[in-house]
Amino acid sequence: MKQSNWDKIIEAAMGPAGEYLASLPDRPVYRPTDPDRIRALVGGPLPEDGVDAVEVVDALARSIEPHVTAHASGRYFGFVIGGLHPASFGADLLGVTWDQNAGLYAVAQGVAIVEEVAAGWVLDVLGLPSNASVGFVTGGQMANYTCLAAARHRVLREVGWDVEAQGLQGAPKVNIVVKSERHSTIPRALRLLGFGDSTSTLVPSDADSRIDTEELERTLAGLEGPTIVCVEAGNINHGSFDDYSAVADAADRHRTRGNPTWVHVDGAFGLWAAASAATKHLTAGMDRLDSWSTDAHKTLNVGYDSGVAICRHPASHRASMSIQAAYLVQADGAARDQMDWNPEFSRRARGLAVYATLRSLGRAGVDEMVERLCSLARLFAVRLTGSGKAEVVNDVVFNQVLVRWIAPDGNHNDFTDQVITKVQQDGTAYFSGTTWNGHRFMRISVSDWATDESDVERAVAALLRCAG
Ligand SMILES: Cc1ncc(COP(=O)(O)O)c(C=O)c1O
Repeated sequence: MKQSNWDKIIEAAMGPAGEYLASLPDRPVYRPTDPDRIRALVGGPLPEDGVDAVEVVDALARSIEPHVTAHASGRYFGFVIGGLHPASFGADLLGVTWDQNAGLYAVAQGVAIVEEVAAGWVLDVLGLPSNASVGFVTGGQMANYTCLAAARHRVLREVGWDVEAQGLQGAPKVNIVVKSERHSTIPRALRLLGFGDSTSTLVPSDADSRIDTEELERTLAGLEGPTIVCVEAGNINHGSFDDYSAVADAADRHRTRGNPTWVHVDGAFGLWAAASAATKHLTAGMDRLDSWSTDAHKTLNVGYDSGVAICRHPASHRASMSIQAAYLVQADGAARDQMDWNPEFSRRARGLAVYATLRSLGRAGVDEMVERLCSLARLFAVRLTGSGKAEVVNDVVFNQVLVRWIAPDGNHNDFTDQVITKVQQDGTAYFSGTTWNGHRFMRISVSDWATDESDVERAVAALLRCAG
């Protein structure tokens, strides 16, 4: 067997990795950089002659480490980006080391069973039906895609159309009903599934970005035939939650009128509200829906990339994803072949890190972490409102805060953008912006398990400094 010098490689990678992790409390969270500087360090044509792997890893670590964004620093509040739980980090190191192709049970049984256990724990901690099916995918985008592929299968199957065999050309029309303030990954998933971007009926949202359920009811009453409805748990701007009981009631009435109906909820970060006693009420009725997508790399703090697609109807989920090939060794339902539940064929065992994080936190740890993220978001809201320089415009029900910086000259949009740019350059903490209702806002997303009160105070001080 050709043996590499693994000790030297581990040293070359893990030495800088350890130094990076140790630097997190003090290093700048973000450093704007000149792309040409990075290209000069790593770019150029592929050299004719190779070099030792240790040299490559060493050079990569030295070149790129200064340009790494410190998502796991406790002070990264941009977009919705989780930190890195140590159990996830350790499990992923093992996963990379074992280099398992976790597509088929027969190929890598150990990790297949870990993913099987993790799937059960995810359902349990989120209070979803224990017989629902679970696919470990790359993120919220692919979780939405996978769930909606299952939806497409089932609603068409119920009118006698086999979409996997027959495709969409000539298929019965599928009504797509989506809340207006959906995340952009929903139309993208629909696009990838052949439904197109502009064929959805948009149902308006209220001032808190929650779907208007009376409008949903009216919309459904005017439609006939197979129908897919998309709602969400945790709006990207407001962090708000739809009224799932009302949505489920409307869907039931639509079904009773003879229309095959599937309701999907995009819960990339918000589905985890169900795991905490403090926020569980926000998800009431959600277990009545048909599919749920979420991320592990956001609220659960598993490392990138990790999403979860969950379906009430395993047969539809499997029918939409599975493939057969003569050369494969397939369990045919007797064991968990991961490729039955996700769109990848070969894949890494990303469920390992989900398993390890859930095992390390336990049910109580997940509950406490979700509650803490939300209470730190409320602390931001209190401090910023108290400063008199900013206005918090959302009801902080979860981990998102929507902020307008108050400009002395009344130009709040420009001032808000200026504060965001300045604080990003300052490097103490990172925040990102958004446009909602035609106005610019700063978003605060508290998604890192490592964030504590002192991080919030440091970040608030940096923001107030940047706001002058
Ligand atoms: C509500 C919602 N849905 C979907 C996504 C997409 O998730 P991912 O980036 O993991 O694909 C996000 C990302 O922030 C989100 O907030």
